[in-house]
Amino acid sequence: MKHLKHLFENNLDWADARKEEDPEYFRKLRNQQTPEYLWIGCSDSRVPANEIVGLPPGELFVHRNVANVVVHSDLNCLSVMQYAVDVLKVKHIIVCGHYGCGGIKAALDDARLGLIDNWVQHVKDIRGKHRQLLAEIEEPEAKLNRLCELNVVEQVLNVVNTTIVQDAWSRGQDLSVHGWIYSINDGVLRDLNICVDASGESKQAYQNALKSGLI
Ligand code: CO
Repeated sequence: MKHLKHLFENNLDWADARKEEDPEYFRKLRNQQTPEYLWIGCSDSRVPANEIVGLPPGELFVHRNVANVVVHSDLNCLSVMQYAVDVLKVKHIIVCGHYGCGGIKAALDDARLGLIDNWVQHVKDIRGKHRQLLAEIEEPEAKLNRLCELNVVEQVLNVVNTTIVQDAWSRGQDLSVHGWIYSINDGVLRDLNICVDASGESKQAYQNALKSGLI
C-alpha cells in the first residue's frame, strides 16, 4: 500500500504540468543550478520561500529553521552558507523573518515546549539585549512583531560575522546580505533597511535598522 497517496498524485500532476509548459523543463533543470540567492527563512509552513518571491526551482538556494536563526556553531546552516557562497557563488544572502512567528512568540512568552526551548533561547537572548526597546511597546502583537524584526536584524549581523562572508569579502567577491520580513496577513515582503555588502559597513547598517522599525 502506498502511503500518502494524494501527495504522489499531486506530484505527478505537478511534473506533468511543468512538462506541458516546457518539454525541456527537467532536462534544463538537471544540467544547471546557478542560483543568485541564498534564502535563510523560518520553517513555518505559511512562508514558502520560492513562491513568495516568484522564483522557480533552480533560482533560490534555501535554508529554513525555526525562527530563521543563524547560530555561529550550527554546522547545518554554516554548511549551507559555505556551499552557497564558495561553490554556487550566490550574490545575495537574504535573511527573511515573518510577523507572528511562533518561534519568536515562544521566546517572548517563555513558553515551555520541549527541546525547542534551547533553540528559542537564541531569540530570548535577543529579547534580553533589546529589553528597553521592547518595553516601550505595550500592545502584545506589536511587541511580538518588533521582536520578529529585531531577530532578523541580529541574524543579518550573525551572517555578516561568519568567516564565510568575511572571507568572501576579503577575496573581493560580490556578496550582499539583506534583512527582510514577510507578513502572513497580506503576503507582502518588507525590506528592513539592513543591507550590508562590505566588511566595514555592518555597524552603521545595524544602527540604522534598529532605528527604523516598521511597526
Ligand atoms: Co516563524
